[in-house]
Amino acid sequence: MTTNIQNQWSSQMGFILAAIGSAVGLGNIWKFPYLTGEYGGGAFVIIYLICVVLMGLPIMMAEVLLGKRGAGSPVASMRNLAKEAGQSRLWQLLGWLGVIAGFLVLSYYSVIAGWTLDYVWNSASGTFATNNTPAAIKSIFTDLTSNPTYLLILHSIFMLVTIIILARGVQGGLERAVKFMIPALFVVLIMLLAYAISTPKFMDGVHFMFDINFNKFFYPDGENFSGKGILVAMGQAFFSLSLGMGAIMVYGAYLPKDASIAKTTAIVAFADTLVAILAGLIIFPIVFSNGLEPNAGVGLVFQTLPIAFGQMPFGNIFGSLFFLLLTLAALSSAISLIEPAIAWLVETGKCARVSATIVIGIATWLLGFVTIFSFNEWSEFKLFSMNMFELIDYVTSNIMLPLGGILMAIFVAWLMKSEDVTSELKVSAQNFGYQIWNFLLRYIIPLAVTLVFLNAIGIF
Ligand code: TRP
Repeated sequence: MTTNIQNQWSSQMGFILAAIGSAVGLGNIWKFPYLTGEYGGGAFVIIYLICVVLMGLPIMMAEVLLGKRGAGSPVASMRNLAKEAGQSRLWQLLGWLGVIAGFLVLSYYSVIAGWTLDYVWNSASGTFATNNTPAAIKSIFTDLTSNPTYLLILHSIFMLVTIIILARGVQGGLERAVKFMIPALFVVLIMLLAYAISTPKFMDGVHFMFDINFNKFFYPDGENFSGKGILVAMGQAFFSLSLGMGAIMVYGAYLPKDASIAKTTAIVAFADTLVAILAGLIIFPIVFSNGLEPNAGVGLVFQTLPIAFGQMPFGNIFGSLFFLLLTLAALSSAISLIEPAIAWLVETGKCARVSATIVIGIATWLLGFVTIFSFNEWSEFKLFSMNMFELIDYVTSNIMLPLGGILMAIFVAWLMKSEDVTSELKVSAQNFGYQIWNFLLRYIIPLAVTLVFLNAIGIF
């Protein structure tokens, strides 16, 4: 098989770091807590964790495997592998689905990353210390999101940095940056956890996250069954682990031949989940201790953590450090969101890496306007009772990523030759772990995702 990608991680560790860089981001610290808050806590968390273990982990293995063996952009990898397995060329559409999903996600991801950038200055300049009431901090957030010009500036800065890094190629600085950034983020999170434990309602936060109340989850209005929470928890598992759109596939394509797929993916999934749970354990105690509502929506993190930073000693420094690290974590995720598109454009041979990055970067930047206006000028414009940002987020996380995920599962478990699969995993077909994995991919995952989809469109 031809190998289109010459670049490789320096080692298995290089891949683990890059994949953690992709997985850990706004999804863990911004999105997971606010979704948990909106869907009532414990039941959402447990379903999320089940999705991570039973779907996320096996699909991540499948996706890395596809990348490692396909050795190209998602489009080319799927084309190569379909040919090898004697399947239809149409499988490259799966690569396309990913390219488009990544582009859509990045268009709003960059806007949110812009918010975190703004919070770096806000913390450093002491704004949170001088306005340390929940109401004042909330209005800082509302002022930010109601100012399209300023949002545009922040979004542009973030996209520009993303483009510059991507133009130079992902591997160069990424391994080194992530090696320092993730441990640093972790240290600040542990510090924040210590603060959260010191708040009067720490245990309320813990109960909110881990007491499982399926009644409230499935009957949000007390009467009618709704399975929407399951769809959202599943979508969030895909989103947080960066699955279903080829990001992990491209990174897998840079994996050294002798690396262990099972071990590396388990480490990545564990680290990602740990950060999300920590974020929840920090945020909810602050919510309850300050009389706030857990279902504040997209502003939740931005309205809670500043309270903590405003109160703690050296809060200005820790606050700006935290938001800077979060911006960097978002950057290392953003890179993986459009690497599939760039890798594809470069492969077509029509353009060099730098121009490919600029073209796709500008397109993403432009689409970001839609999200910016969703928070102000166009906030009343709704389809299916969602504004444009919510709609893009809903369609990508809850439909495109899981759809990409099942297609990958089906391709690996039903269509690839099992010798090829086992040889990539370096196991025998009798290996027990392999058999469980294969069973999940073959039956459980396609069935479960289909049921959740059917439920979401109201079929049962
Ligand atoms: N996982 C990242 C986060 O949690 C976001 C992300 C990066 C992503 N690459 C992705 C989401 C690919 C979906 C698909 O912030």
